[in-house]
Amino acid sequence: MSETNQPSKVDKHAVHTAGGARVGATILGAGMALPKTVLTNADLEKLMDTSDEWIRQRTGITQRRIAKRELGETTASLGTRALQAALDDAGMRPTDLDQIVVATITPDMPTPSAACQIAANLGAGNIAAFDLGAACSGFVFALNTVDALIRSGNARNVGVVGADIITRHVDYSDRGRGTSILFGDGAGAFVVTGSDDPDTGVLARAMHTDGSRWPDLFIPRADDDFPADFDHDGHGVDINCLHMNGRAVFKFAVSTFGDLIQETLDKVGLKPEDVDHYVCHQSNKRILDAARERFGLPEEKLHINIDRYGNTVAASVCLCFSELKAANRIKPGQLVMFLGFGAGLTWGSSLWRL
Ligand code: COA
Repeated sequence: MSETNQPSKVDKHAVHTAGGARVGATILGAGMALPKTVLTNADLEKLMDTSDEWIRQRTGITQRRIAKRELGETTASLGTRALQAALDDAGMRPTDLDQIVVATITPDMPTPSAACQIAANLGAGNIAAFDLGAACSGFVFALNTVDALIRSGNARNVGVVGADIITRHVDYSDRGRGTSILFGDGAGAFVVTGSDDPDTGVLARAMHTDGSRWPDLFIPRADDDFPADFDHDGHGVDINCLHMNGRAVFKFAVSTFGDLIQETLDKVGLKPEDVDHYVCHQSNKRILDAARERFGLPEEKLHINIDRYGNTVAASVCLCFSELKAANRIKPGQLVMFLGFGAGLTWGSSLWRL
């Protein structure tokens, strides 16, 4: 991957000379990368007993992207393209980065991490690079982690990537129709840098887990990974497949999403209308509409792109923000609340002043 010719805006080594001064964090660049192949609802009708109308009514999705290895589309390659786009947007080079954090549950290999592969692909040199796994909450958890690393003086210029190829774990037969229709592949990335203004960066955060509810959404690697009362074929067909209790997750998401917004606003004494953008994990349009209606938010404050990409796991929040930024709808000083929830079960928020 070639380096950008644009001059670097940020001093990579400034963190080592900060001398304890308070610093903020800012999102300097954003980018995204999508697989070439589009999988429409009409395509799914040919693979399983479903209909375009059912999928659109229940989820708001009309199409999604699906990664193909034969086209060189891997978690690391999509993540590399997304981070390079974010670096270009920030006017920075890969060698300006001192850390890369990748939110993913589908690294191409158990080891090396996707972050190590992306660092190598970009020629980022000898930097800290690691993956963080919190499923669909992963990118929001990564943003909170990176803000804390920067504010504590332990990082300065960080590439934060959300990348998943979840369709590797999806069953496109009738048996999987309640799950497969939701998901798509993709990657997004931010370049987050230290800022001299301590009032930029995370104003409030929430990170939650209810591990007892893991059976609602899981990918087993062996027969004995299944919960005891789970109805599965016992002959390996369901291994490595994403299993979801759709109704339970739906109910959880509708109540949790609203409660999470309220919890985050309460931490800083803000009203729902004070926030300029709610950038949410795209799980189901009905879940997002419910949150919008509960707080009386206008459509332009809660961006929805699930119709085109489906649920892209850790990528979805940064795909949303990248689209808003590319459309010049993101301005300095604005308040942006990032929200995610997913397998684990996990849920979290990150409220930023840009
Ligand atoms: N096409 C047509 N019919 C389908 C179907 C499909 N793809 N998938 C399921 N059905 C059928 C079911 O078999 C069921 O039939 P029955 O009534 O004869 O038993 C009927 O549609 C209703 O199924 P149900 O599961 O109750 O539908 P739903 O309204 O809950 O919608 C989801 C299903 C998956 C769209 C919805 O539950 C959901 O979005 N859940 C949240 C998932 C989520 O967000 N996961 C990610 C978290 S990060």
